[in-house]
Amino acid sequence: KTIFVLNGPNLNMLGKREPGIYGAGTLKDVENRCIAVGKDLGFEVDFRQSNHEGILIDWIHEAGEKAAGIAFNAGAYTHTSLALHDAIKSITVPVIEVHISNVHAREEIRHHSMIAPAAKGVICGFGPTSYILALHAFKDIIS
Ligand code: DQA
Repeated sequence: KTIFVLNGPNLNMLGKREPGIYGAGTLKDVENRCIAVGKDLGFEVDFRQSNHEGILIDWIHEAGEKAAGIAFNAGAYTHTSLALHDAIKSITVPVIEVHISNVHAREEIRHHSMIAPAAKGVICGFGPTSYILALHAFKDIIS
């Protein structure tokens, strides 16, 4: 079974970007961890990043055809994108919303998610381990 791990805008900058909030590790480090843990759990991990909303929408539709689940860090689109909400609603594959930082401990604008009402669940605040927790959750919820 394949799990798509999708990353939205600015996550390609991990390691350089506000390291006090997001840590010193790169997105490649996150990808390597996800692939290794995925392997242990019996999943193939298809890990992707885009800064473009439409590409993320296309990937959600693609996952709807061929993935068993999506771990999705939509970056700032989390807080703004009705189109990503609708894309998730258009498929039956479960989506787990993921954030590196604890968005609820940050600015008010980050407290609201457009993704969460369409998601199976939300994991935030554990650094890159948030992604790993999502993979474990998929192990539990995918029969
Ligand atoms: C983020 C949190 C968002 O508020 C922010 O816009 C990001 C990263 C996180 O992983 O903590 O780009 O999704």
